[in-house]
Amino acid sequence: METTLILFKPDALHRGLVGQILSRFETKGLQLVGMRLMCMSSELADTHYAEHVDKPFYPGLKGFMTSSPIIAMALRGPNAIAVARSMMGKTFGIEAEAGTIRGDFGCSKSYNLVHGSDSQESAERELGLYFPEGLEDWKPIQAPWLWDDRE
Ligand code: RTP
Ligand code: MG
Repeated sequence: METTLILFKPDALHRGLVGQILSRFETKGLQLVGMRLMCMSSELADTHYAEHVDKPFYPGLKGFMTSSPIIAMALRGPNAIAVARSMMGKTFGIEAEAGTIRGDFGCSKSYNLVHGSDSQESAERELGLYFPEGLEDWKPIQAPWLWDDRE
């Protein structure tokens, strides 16, 4: 089991797509173990996107991410990090495959609806930023039909 950090970016909230996007993750069988509506501070943006702070697109990205509330989610499941990334699709909506979240819901390079951790190391670091108090460890009643213990 892995846990990944997903952000619903401001465009997902403004466009009323939170329910549809969350529904995809739920239907896939990823379990919600943390959820928080919040504003991303300037400091959190710089920490979260530390690898990008010196890139030319960073001021625009930071302005966008701090402009209005986001929703941070922790999702758990087998290979959750790669599974969520494949459901999100390529970074830019204009390049993301149909059937993915970014491919189906947008065609912008900047407004791409969701963030997902890209490795176990990133997931651990990012989950600590948004959920310093830890996550809810609960067992969904449908768990036996979602995840086969013998796998
Ligand atoms: P994310 O971190 O948001 O999950 O997206 P990602 O891994 O697919 O893409 P990444 O390379 O980490 O870039 C982070 C975010 O920066 C914006 N971006 N803009 N204009 C550009 O060239 C450019 N490149 C990246 C996107 O919003 C991307 O999600
Ligand atoms: Mg990234």
